[in-house]
Amino acid sequence: MITGRYPSLRLRRNRKYSWTRRLIRENDLSVNDLILPIFLTDGINKKSIIKNMPGVYRYSIDMVPKVIDKALKNKIPMVAFFPHTPFNRKNNLGTESLNENNLVCRALKIAKKKYKNEIGLMADVALDPYTSHGHDGVLKKNYILNDETIKILIKQSLLQAQMGCDVIAPSDMMDGRIGKIRKELDKNNFQNVQLLSYAVKYASNFYGPFRNAVGSKSILRGNKKSYQMDFSNSEEAIREVALDIKEGADLIMVKPGMPYLDIIKTIKEKFKIPVFAYQVSGEYSLITNAIQKKIINQNAIFESLISFKRAGANAIVTYFANDVANFLD
Ligand code: PBG
Repeated sequence: MITGRYPSLRLRRNRKYSWTRRLIRENDLSVNDLILPIFLTDGINKKSIIKNMPGVYRYSIDMVPKVIDKALKNKIPMVAFFPHTPFNRKNNLGTESLNENNLVCRALKIAKKKYKNEIGLMADVALDPYTSHGHDGVLKKNYILNDETIKILIKQSLLQAQMGCDVIAPSDMMDGRIGKIRKELDKNNFQNVQLLSYAVKYASNFYGPFRNAVGSKSILRGNKKSYQMDFSNSEEAIREVALDIKEGADLIMVKPGMPYLDIIKTIKEKFKIPVFAYQVSGEYSLITNAIQKKIINQNAIFESLISFKRAGANAIVTYFANDVANFLD
């Protein structure tokens, strides 16, 4: 008798050859899902190594076109700029963020001029690459001031839009900044600039190598727990996203990535909004380190990225973007 169970039912039948596995595949990864972070540094013709991020470099502004050419060749839809600000330009208020000749502004200007709308340009809005204490906002008496910080973030956002930024990504976790930034952008005729809110950003231990890359690790005083989320929470993530959508977020970021796939899935199912995931620097380090030591093989990169697609992410910010684009090719 044929029944709906073993031995007549055998799920392995559908997996027996590559062609059938391909036919029943539920999720796939393509270059359209990738966002490449680019670290920027002062100097000319400079490419500097970042501790614990093998294969990732900081580039001087003159090298940005070369880096973008490669991303374009790989058909990557968007790049994201992050600056390594020289320490002598950092202060308590992070005023370098408002300098139209800072690293991010220069990169945006050059890239927009050269590539027009061939590739998306994204930039973080937050003060941590610019403050002398390494926090994302204005520090007073050991507390990050919310409303004072927003005043600066609004100006930073407008400036980046003026420089040609397509997707502005507030990553600071202050309350209420999305609405205020949207208002300022609209007021200045930047209705088409997209807002990608890092709505769900955890006070994570996986950001270490990134903080090194932007030069905030050794100067960071204390931790970011009074503004970034407690990693024990998921209901709070829903509240954060609901608020940012109401305030006008076009896209939602969940960060870090792999330890938070449950959050990606919940947000996607609940809000039906484009959700981006950030596979952060610590995740990158762990995987590259294990590959270099031959503990795991290269295909683990692809597997790690597919996990985001399975969870429901539309796109992934990943330092593996170029590697995986080559692999997909
Ligand atoms: C800063 C910011 C951080 C990252 C992206 N934007 C670090 C932090 O919040 O301390 C981390 C990215 C990574 O680890 O790859 N607002």
